[in-house]
Amino acid sequence: MLTRIKDIAANLAPRLVEIRRHLHSHPELSGQEFQTAAYVAGVLSSCGLRVKEGIGKVGVVGELEGQGNDPRLLAIRTDMDALPIVERTGLEFASRQEGVMHACGHDVHTTVGLGTAMVLAQLGHPLAGTIRFLFQPAEEIAQGAAWMVQDGAMENVTGIFSLHVFPSISAGVVGIRYGALTAAADDLEITIIGESGHGARPHEAIDAIWIASQIITTLQQAISRTQNPLRPVVLTIGQISGGRAPNVIADQVRLLGTVRSLHPETSEALPDWIEQIVANVCRSYGARYELKYRRGTPSVQNDGIMTQLLESAAGEAWGNRGVQIIHEPSLGAEDFSVYLQYAPGSMFRLGVGFKDRHNYPLHHPQFEVDESAIITGVVTLAYAAYKYWQQTPSGMKDRE
Ligand code: NI
Repeated sequence: MLTRIKDIAANLAPRLVEIRRHLHSHPELSGQEFQTAAYVAGVLSSCGLRVKEGIGKVGVVGELEGQGNDPRLLAIRTDMDALPIVERTGLEFASRQEGVMHACGHDVHTTVGLGTAMVLAQLGHPLAGTIRFLFQPAEEIAQGAAWMVQDGAMENVTGIFSLHVFPSISAGVVGIRYGALTAAADDLEITIIGESGHGARPHEAIDAIWIASQIITTLQQAISRTQNPLRPVVLTIGQISGGRAPNVIADQVRLLGTVRSLHPETSEALPDWIEQIVANVCRSYGARYELKYRRGTPSVQNDGIMTQLLESAAGEAWGNRGVQIIHEPSLGAEDFSVYLQYAPGSMFRLGVGFKDRHNYPLHHPQFEVDESAIITGVVTLAYAAYKYWQQTPSGMKDRE
């Protein structure tokens, strides 16, 4: 079966590079992936998949029915949106949309999703159950997954795979991570309300700027003294505003930040922990506060069995040198975690780095990928999908 998958994928390689370059030169921002979605739907239909458009606003769902009657339904999720970045790669197929660029490789993800669908369709339905391809919009603003789920994308799904490109892993290598892959990312907004006064008479005022500085310092110190150091928390205040004049004590300061954590129990406790510190500092100096803590995306927690399936599929396909176990999670965020609230799954890192030249990071205006990675992604996913119904104990036998 693996040989057949590899052969079909190899034949499709030129077509997949063409698809990827088309997507790359026509990037669209989060929530506006209209042309991309129409293109994806067209390719899926032409391969004989059952296609639904307008799922999750601009998303597309394609289903390939299995031959057997295994009720388990596997989903494969990819994302389609680009970033507001001016591309500076100088490539022939660079963005034709000024100020918009596929700098996070979602063009590659979409292509790998399409390629996997094409390969499995050409295999002639040897799958025991149904496979559903999710092409979601708006990953970069961490909303598309929730939109897709709201429209039923996860109904009956029993397992899910996804991928993200990674420039610091060489093309031809698949990065496998057990457990936490990315962090929970939440938004924090604190308003400190003091009392205005003359800059020369601080004792008659409540200085919101000074109290804000105390809060920032206390939060950073408290992380090191009251949070378990083996369960990382990163709290970044990235924006601060307040005050009107150099000689007027500010009555209000607004702090905006992002909060990252890896362990679900830590994430759970963070809003109360932050509020307690803010309340105590404010109380000490007579200020009031307003605090808004908005939950963003949860942490991606890769499931053991699903990750094992990816690892063994990649290992059989590419040998030991084609598989890299990732030992550390990232504190970046990824809304694939939203799907994982509904079914166990795993996201792998697809190496797209060039072996012989400098690799720019994700979200960089000169970010490029080694396109040979597309086939690595397609074969890995198609074979892992095939194995999904073979491996688990439902009596399905390998029919090869
Ligand atoms: Ni991305």
